[in-house]
Amino acid sequence: MSEVVELLISGIGQLCVVPSHGDGPQRGHRLGDLGLIENAALAIDDGKIIAFGPEDEILGGYRAVQTLDAGGRVVTPGLVDAHTHLIWAGDRAGEFERRLKGVSYQQIMAEGGGINSTVRATRKADLADLVDQSKARLNLMLAHGSTTVEVKTGYGLRTDAEIAMLNAIALLDAEHPVDLVATFLGAHAVPPEFEGRADEYVDLVINEMIPAVCEWRDEHWPSLMFCDVFCDEGAFTLGQSRRILEAAAARGMGLKIHADEFANLGGVGLAVELGAVSADHLVVTSDEEIVALGRSDTIAVALPATPFGLAHREYTPARKLLDAGAALALGSDCNPGTAWCENMQITLALATRYLGLTQAQAIAAATVNAAFALGLGDRVGSLEPGKMADVLMWDVRDYRMIGYRFGVNLVQTVIKGGRVAFDARWGGW
Ligand code: NIG
Ligand code: FE
Repeated sequence: MSEVVELLISGIGQLCVVPSHGDGPQRGHRLGDLGLIENAALAIDDGKIIAFGPEDEILGGYRAVQTLDAGGRVVTPGLVDAHTHLIWAGDRAGEFERRLKGVSYQQIMAEGGGINSTVRATRKADLADLVDQSKARLNLMLAHGSTTVEVKTGYGLRTDAEIAMLNAIALLDAEHPVDLVATFLGAHAVPPEFEGRADEYVDLVINEMIPAVCEWRDEHWPSLMFCDVFCDEGAFTLGQSRRILEAAAARGMGLKIHADEFANLGGVGLAVELGAVSADHLVVTSDEEIVALGRSDTIAVALPATPFGLAHREYTPARKLLDAGAALALGSDCNPGTAWCENMQITLALATRYLGLTQAQAIAAATVNAAFALGLGDRVGSLEPGKMADVLMWDVRDYRMIGYRFGVNLVQTVIKGGRVAFDARWGGW
C-alpha cells in the first residue's frame, strides 16, 4: 500500500538535498555537500518534506494528490538570504553618481548622507508606503528563489520609527509567502539629531529602544529576534557595540554584528566572546580572527554584492575561513547604499568568482548554512524529511550552471511551504 501525500515532484534530474552535518552547518572544507541524487523524486505533505530518493523508490512508496514533473531539471532547497536591509523608502541614485565621480561611501556618510539620507526618507514615509516599496523588492527576492529572508531595521533610528519598521516587517511576514527573520539594528548610524553625541545615542538604544523593541517582540513576534550593530569606522566603536549587544543578550535577543566591512575594530572577537549567531561582512578580518571564528559556533556571513556594489577590490577571505574550519554562509545585503540587488543568484555568481567557492559550496552556503546563520537550521535550508518544503526547480539540468550563468533568472518554480508561490512559466504569480 502506498502512502498518499499532497505533492510529489517527479522527474528530478539532479536533486540537491544539501544536508546539515549532524545538527549543525557544513563546516570548513566539508562545505559543498549537496547530497546529490540523480533521477530522483520528492514527497511533500502538510508543508513539509516527507521523503526523497531515487524516483522509482519514491513513486513506488507514495501516491499524490498533485504531481509536478521536473522534466530532468535541478531541484534544490529554497535560498535563504542571511542578511538584508529590505525595508526602506526612496533611493540614493544621486549618491551613487557621486561615488562614480570619486567620492567615497564613508565621505558621503560623514557629510550626513548615506544611511542618514535613507533615514530621512524612511521616517517621512507612512507605513503603507513603506510596506509597498519593500514588498516590491520582496516579490523580486521570491521570484529569484529566496524563500527565507532576514530583514533588519536601522533606517528609523528613533524609537517610534524603528517600531514602524518592525510593523512593516510583521505585515510583510504575515501577507507574503516568504518567511522573514527580524533583526533590530538601531545602531546602524548615529542619527542627525545626535551628531557628535554618539554615546548618548547608544544610551537611548540601550535604555529606550531595546526595551520597547522587546515589548513589541513579546506581543507581535513569537520567534527569535536578533540585535545587530554596525561596528565600523564612522558608525559604532567596539565599546559601544559591546554595550548594545550585552544589553540585547540580557533580554534574550540573538546577536549579530556588521564587522570589518571597511575598518577592523575588533568586532569578530566580540562576536565570538558573546556567542553571536553570526558575524557579517568580514572583509578586512585578520588571520587571528579567522582562526577564532573557525573555533567558534559563530557563522561567518559573506556578502559579496557589497564590495561589488562599492566597486571595491577586496572581498571576504572565504578560503581562509574554510581552512580554519569556519561555517560560511551567504547573504545579499540588499540595501539602498552599497548593494541594491534582490537576486541571490548574483550573490552566488560573485561568491564563485571573488570568494573562490565552487558552485556546490556557494549553493550550500546560501541554503543550509544561511539557515543556521538565522537560527533556523532545524527548519529550513535543506530538503531533509521534517524540514519545510521550500523547494526550487531550476531551469537547468546541471547544478553547476548555478553561479556560472548569471544576470538572468535561472529559477523556474518556487515552492514555499509545499505550495507553488512563483512560476516563471506562468509569468510569475
Ligand atoms: O551592510 N554597513 C551597513 N549597512 C549597509 C549599508 C546600508 C546603507 O548604506 O544604507 C551594509 O553595507
Ligand atoms: Fe548590512
